[in-house]
Amino acid sequence: MAVRVVVGTQWGDEGKGKYIDMLARESDVVVRFSGGNNAGHTVVVGGVKYALHLVPSGILHKGKLCIIGNGVVIDPAVLIKEISELKEKGISDENLVISDRAHVIMPYHKLLDELQENFRGEKSLGTTKRGIGPAYADKTERSGIRMCDLIDPDTFAEKVRENLKVKNLIIEKVYGGKGFDAETVIEEYLGYADILKKYVADANSMLFDAIRSGKDVLLEGAQATLLDLDFGTYPYVTSSNPIAGGGCIGAGIAPLYIDEVYGVMKAYTSRVGAGPFPTEQKNEIGDRIRDLGWEYGTTTGRPRRCGWLDMVMIRYAARINGLTWLAINHVDTIGKLEKIKLCTAYRKDGKITLDFPASLKELAKCEPVYEEFDGWNEDISNVRRYEDLPENAKRYLSRIEEIAEVKIKLIGVGKDREQTIVVD
Ligand code: GDP
Ligand code: IMO
Ligand code: MG
Repeated sequence: MAVRVVVGTQWGDEGKGKYIDMLARESDVVVRFSGGNNAGHTVVVGGVKYALHLVPSGILHKGKLCIIGNGVVIDPAVLIKEISELKEKGISDENLVISDRAHVIMPYHKLLDELQENFRGEKSLGTTKRGIGPAYADKTERSGIRMCDLIDPDTFAEKVRENLKVKNLIIEKVYGGKGFDAETVIEEYLGYADILKKYVADANSMLFDAIRSGKDVLLEGAQATLLDLDFGTYPYVTSSNPIAGGGCIGAGIAPLYIDEVYGVMKAYTSRVGAGPFPTEQKNEIGDRIRDLGWEYGTTTGRPRRCGWLDMVMIRYAARINGLTWLAINHVDTIGKLEKIKLCTAYRKDGKITLDFPASLKELAKCEPVYEEFDGWNEDISNVRRYEDLPENAKRYLSRIEEIAEVKIKLIGVGKDREQTIVVD
């Protein structure tokens, strides 16, 4: 029996989906534990591309129990669409389970996300406008609606009517928007409930049974460490805890069961949305990385901001998540540059530091300290053994391991799940 967790170490889109899909092969249960359809996980199998937002990336393997955990916030219409698109591609929903404790994204959450972003003006966070923040805010404020409520028409109707009394006031009086008619929302959502109720169950008890009977479990993280509500670049973060510890809460699993934590990273850094990014390259280098790595959002299609790999961040992520392994993607992409820079530390107030500060003012004072590497001007997309990588690539990867103090286990040399080097 093993319980493994996969998390992002940067600002998301590190290629978690590809490795979750790969590790799912050796797992019996896959649990998505945080976030909602702000996530976009790409899996490419034999040239066919799957973009997953809510359904665990383990769904592509037959017979795996795929759980949408209690820590996830669910937009029912999006989930229904995703399930039906997967079915069209021949992917079965037979083993999909939705936690009865997961919270529901309501239409007022989506509208409030948009109204809040507009209100922030120049200070907007660049959210995905999927209603994520407002849905988690209601969860903590204790006015959220859970999947167990959605599939119970009386409870659901009562909660919607009650919530809308306040939400409509906020929408109309504070933001000058147009409120919702409770009965229309109830009718729409009870239609979704009819479709989704067959998947809703006490997922936590199923997970516990699986662990007790020695099954292999994979906890699928969305977003990433620097987007974490507590440890990310607050307030430019998401509203959940996508770190490994969040897996314990978002799946309902005791910390002592976790055996391994994989931290997925890119060989460079990207970020979507606003917020600090010390190694960002707002120049032709950033544009080149974006073009070479095709850095456009899976969820919103936004061009991603690109820059050099920041090892201060990776060390921070290693510490917070207790990483046992690194999984590094886009090693094919970065090697196409003639010269590659690696940020090995920050210089702040004239001193060298490896600490990632909480205060954004302090972070703004941090200047990256770079080491330069030569690229490996050759196509490595067909390399499958570490020994066969160019020497320049090995030099870059060794330095990353040395600074992170974590070994690299998986190396991505292309989009397809087969384009992976597993290091012995
Ligand atoms: P996730 O959100 O962490 O699952 O990552 P995304 O799917 O949003 O973004 C990762 C992008 O990089 C996708 O377009 C992947 O197909 C692509 N990708 C992943 N690994 C590699 C790799 O090793 N090389 C290349 N060239 N592309 C990759
Ligand atoms: P995956 O799982 C990249 C970012 C948004 C925004 C901030 C807050 O694909 O790696 P939110 O809508 O969550 O309130 O937006 O978080 N963000 C992501 N960026 N990848 C993601 O997920 C993200 N999920 C949220 O762009 O900056
Ligand atoms: Mg993504």
